[in-house]
Amino acid sequence: MAILVTGGLGYIGSHTCVELMNAGRDIVVVDNLYNCKKSSYDRIKALVGRDFKFYECDIRDAKGLAKIFENEDIDSVIHFAGLKSVPESVREPLKYFDNNINGTLVLLDVMRNHGCKKIVFSSSATVYGINNVSPLTEDMEVGGVTNPYGRTKYMIECILKDLCTSDEEWSVCLLRYFNPIGAHKSGTMGEEPNGIPANLMPYITQVAIGKLEYLNVNGSDFDTPDGTGVRDYIHVVDLSIGHLKAVDKIEGENGLFIYNLGTGVGYSVLDVVNAFEKASGVKIPYKIGPRRAGDVATCYSNSSKAFKELGWKAERGIEEMCEDSWRWQKQNPNGYPD
Ligand code: NAD
Ligand code: UFG
Repeated sequence: MAILVTGGLGYIGSHTCVELMNAGRDIVVVDNLYNCKKSSYDRIKALVGRDFKFYECDIRDAKGLAKIFENEDIDSVIHFAGLKSVPESVREPLKYFDNNINGTLVLLDVMRNHGCKKIVFSSSATVYGINNVSPLTEDMEVGGVTNPYGRTKYMIECILKDLCTSDEEWSVCLLRYFNPIGAHKSGTMGEEPNGIPANLMPYITQVAIGKLEYLNVNGSDFDTPDGTGVRDYIHVVDLSIGHLKAVDKIEGENGLFIYNLGTGVGYSVLDVVNAFEKASGVKIPYKIGPRRAGDVATCYSNSSKAFKELGWKAERGIEEMCEDSWRWQKQNPNGYPD
């Protein structure tokens, strides 16, 4: 029995593949290589010391996916494959609706046709929108999202909920990630943003390595202790381990399960800059600029439900997240090899 990992060569997927295989699970990976390099596959194998099946295939390709289900003994799916840039989604909403929503619909249809009804889905804290107050809990109303990317996550959550209501054989786990950063301890796997990073940590590491001159801090007039935005940063390896627990859950029980995966602690932009400088010994020059459209002041989780029901909690602190992000950036200044 294998777990199909869609988007398994990407940032979170690759780390999850390592944790799954280290836990003795068999995996099959499908990725269209849109936002990753094939060398990520070699790095996963090298770290684990074991091979696994990789299919280069788009999840919107129903025939291609069906063949994978026919060739392999797939029992459950962890669904990472998707596009994730907020600004790009504002410019090109149809691309996001097609890739993320249509892609998920095709995947679910092929799963159902092959009797596979267990799925863990990569959702996001973004579904809590702009109206809920942190700490965010799973029972809060979702949907007040501000951009097409966030709407795809919210819509896919709705689709999966409706599916569970329609057929009690489905078992679905929605994981709402907070802000994943960090990298594998080995320094051989990490996040490789496309072009100029939109997210804080990859931007900081590129300033540290000299690719970018300084960090633009997006606003210092928020209602937070130092005026900069507060987020719940979580180490990507902790996040990956959350997926192992989620798969155990859906293997044991049918129904719909929803969990926040965060640390429950919020750090401001300047807290992260300070923690990074301490971990790396490198000074990060920054300039305070205007707010970024759609940004909330504060977003952090209450992740106690995942602890109660899955026995999962984040173990790695902000220092370790910064050290590991920096090691990855230093060892791979140009990301994964072509
Ligand atoms: P990523 O871009 O590194 O990984 C996604 C992978 O999916 C890539 O390897 C890409 O090539 C692949 N992919 C995309 N569309 C595909 C398609 N149609 N068919 C096959 N493969 C496809 O992103 P990530 O940071 O690892 O995120 C994984 C998931 O988690 C995404 O769904 C993302 O929206 C979600 N998420 C990420 C964050 C974050 O901050 N990184 C936060 C919340 C949720
Ligand atoms: N920030 C800066 N300068 C930068 C980049 C970010 O000051 O160059 C600030 C942001 O304004 C925010 C904080 O750093 O206050 C974190 O920003 P990120 O872009 O790293 O993360 P967000 O919380 O904005 O969004 C991320 C993902 C979304 C996801 C959301 C919740 O990018 O896809 O977390 O999961 F939806």
